[in-house]
Amino acid sequence: MELNGRVVVVTGGTRGVGAGIARRFTEAGAEVVVCARRPPQVPLPKTEFAPLDVRDADAVRHFFAGLPRLDVLVNNAGGAPYRRLTDADAERHARVVELNLLAPLTVSLAAYEHLRRTRGSIVMIGSVSGGRPSPGTAAYGAAKAGLESLARSMAVEWAPDVRVNTLVVGMVRTELSAVHYGDDDGVAAVARTVPLGRLAEPSDIGDAAVFLASDAAAYISGASLLVHGGGERPAFLDAATTDRDG
Ligand SMILES: NC(=O)c1ccc[n+]([C@@H]2O[C@H](COP(=O)([O-])OP(=O)(O)OC[C@H]3O[C@@H](n4cnc5c(N)ncnc54)[C@H](OP(=O)(O)O)[C@@H]3O)[C@@H](O)[C@H]2O)c1
Repeated sequence: MELNGRVVVVTGGTRGVGAGIARRFTEAGAEVVVCARRPPQVPLPKTEFAPLDVRDADAVRHFFAGLPRLDVLVNNAGGAPYRRLTDADAERHARVVELNLLAPLTVSLAAYEHLRRTRGSIVMIGSVSGGRPSPGTAAYGAAKAGLESLARSMAVEWAPDVRVNTLVVGMVRTELSAVHYGDDDGVAAVARTVPLGRLAEPSDIGDAAVFLASDAAAYISGASLLVHGGGERPAFLDAATTDRDG
């Protein structure tokens, strides 16, 4: 995919999934700006870092107003700690929705004029948690479901100038995998539940993001692309006493 000269902003592009996305865009020839609250701990060659808290609407507007050009916005900053609904008050759950749903809206609105001028595109980083029960991260799952809905509406309101799509991401191996899945044995056990036999690498998500942002996806807007290695085998199949494999 050729993205020579295109300017790309990846929110939360300093580590994890976002860093994998940023790397793939630089490899495709794009000029990449990553933003987060803190600079990357591991250097990201050929990217520029801009400090930004995506929940701060004034700072977000100021950041995009100062950009000379923008072709692609990747709304990647997000995530949530494991926290059952009754383990926190509503305000703490609302912060999760703020980061995973309201911030991408704020950022997209701030980026819109640039993207309209360049006939650019937005890639939302969604999650499989938005399409199934998400116990322990309920507010996160609800926010990711909302993000996909937001992307579909944006795709209609902003057509034909700006394309908007969502990557619906499964489990990814990042620096923080141990927090989500445990030690190496935990990660390996989780990987065995994925039909393709492994967690995604951040570069897998980067490849899909570059595709959606490229001219090869010129007729794709309002779409959700599952990047989850085949999804989840229904648990009832292993519990049922009929129709067992083998
Ligand atoms: N990892 C997975 O298995 C997985 C699965 C499905 C979907 N996803 C999605 O992929 C995206 C990235 O996840 P990840 O696992 O790579 O997370 P991560 O390792 O925690 O990285 C999150 C990134 O976002 C930045 N960030 C967090 N809060 C921010 C804020 N308020 N303003 C600006 N930047 C902020 C972080 O930098 P600072 O902390 O310095 O700000 C960091 O760069 C998220 O949208 C997540 O929902 C991940």
